[in-house]
Amino acid sequence: MISCPSVEKRVIRNHYNVSTLFYRVLWGQHIHHGLWSADESPKVAARQLTERVIREAGVRDGDQVVDIGCGMGGSSIHLARHHNCQVTGVTLSPFQQRWATTSSWLNGTKKKTRFICEDAEKVEFSPESFDVAWSIECTEHLFDKPAFFRRMSGWLRPGGRVAICAWLAGDEPLDEVGRQRVYDVCEGFFCPSLGTMNDYEGWLADAGLKMQKTLDWTDQVSRTWEICRDRVDRLSVRPIAKLIDRGQLIFLDRFQTILDAYNTRSMRYGCFVAEKPR
Ligand SMILES: C[S@@+](CC[C@H](N)C(=O)[O-])C[C@H]1O[C@@H](n2cnc3c(N)ncnc32)[C@H](O)[C@@H]1O
Repeated sequence: MISCPSVEKRVIRNHYNVSTLFYRVLWGQHIHHGLWSADESPKVAARQLTERVIREAGVRDGDQVVDIGCGMGGSSIHLARHHNCQVTGVTLSPFQQRWATTSSWLNGTKKKTRFICEDAEKVEFSPESFDVAWSIECTEHLFDKPAFFRRMSGWLRPGGRVAICAWLAGDEPLDEVGRQRVYDVCEGFFCPSLGTMNDYEGWLADAGLKMQKTLDWTDQVSRTWEICRDRVDRLSVRPIAKLIDRGQLIFLDRFQTILDAYNTRSMRYGCFVAEKPR
C-alpha cells in the first residue's frame, strides 16, 4: 500500500462539491473509468463498466443494494432502472446527494432510490440489510480500508455479494519512480492511500468474505485518461478551473501521471467480487 498522509477528509468532500460539474462536463454522469473492448464511445464504455460489474457480481432483479460513494447516482440509477433494484446511495458530498436525487427523479427511479450524505466510514445500517454492497472507485478515498470492509460485510445478508472497483498500487516492490507516480496520483486525486491487489484480497478475506473473482482491467480502462487529457486541453478547462479553486483542481494536471502509472504497471485497475458465506 502507498500512502499520502497530507490528504484530509474535508478536502475530499470539498473536491467533490467543487469538481462534480467538471466531471459531468468532461466525462458524463458516471465518475468512473470506461471499459473498452473495441472503439466504443466514452459514454458507452462507462456504461459497459457498470454492466460488467453487474454481471460479474451476479446482481439479481429486485436486489437491495448499497452504493458506497455513489457520485451523481450513475450506478444507483442504472441498477434501479434496468435491474429493478432498490438502492441506497451514500456520498460524502451534499452537492452530489442533491444532484443524484434530482437525476433519479428525472430518470423515473425516485421510488427505488434514496441518496444520503454520510461518511462511509461512519454510516450505520442494520445488520444483514443488503443483498449487494457496491462501490466503484470510492474505497481509494477511505482512511481505514480494512475497518470499512468489516463494516460492509456486516451489512450483507448471508449469500450477499460485495462488488468493488478500485484504483490500485502496482505489485510490490515498486521502484522509486513508480512509487513517486502512485504518490502523485494519491495527492492529485485526494486518496489517503492506494492498496495493491493483494491488499484488497486480504482485507476482504479478513472481513469474513469469500473471494470469488479478482479481475485486472488495467488495459481495458486506461484510455479514459487519454480522452480526459485531450478534452481538458481542447476545452480550455484549466483557466476556468483556476478561477474557481486552483487547489481543488490539481487533478486536471495529473491525468498524464495516471496514464504513465497504468502503462508502466505502477498502478493497476481491479474489480473484486466476494461473497458472505451462508
Ligand atoms: C470517483 S467518485 C465515484 C462515483 C461513483 N461511484 C461512480 O462510479 O460514478 C468517488 C465517490 O466517492 C465518494 N466518497 C469519497 N469518500 C467518501 C466517504 N468517506 N464516504 C462516502 N462517500 C465518499 C465521493 O463523494 C464520490 O461520490
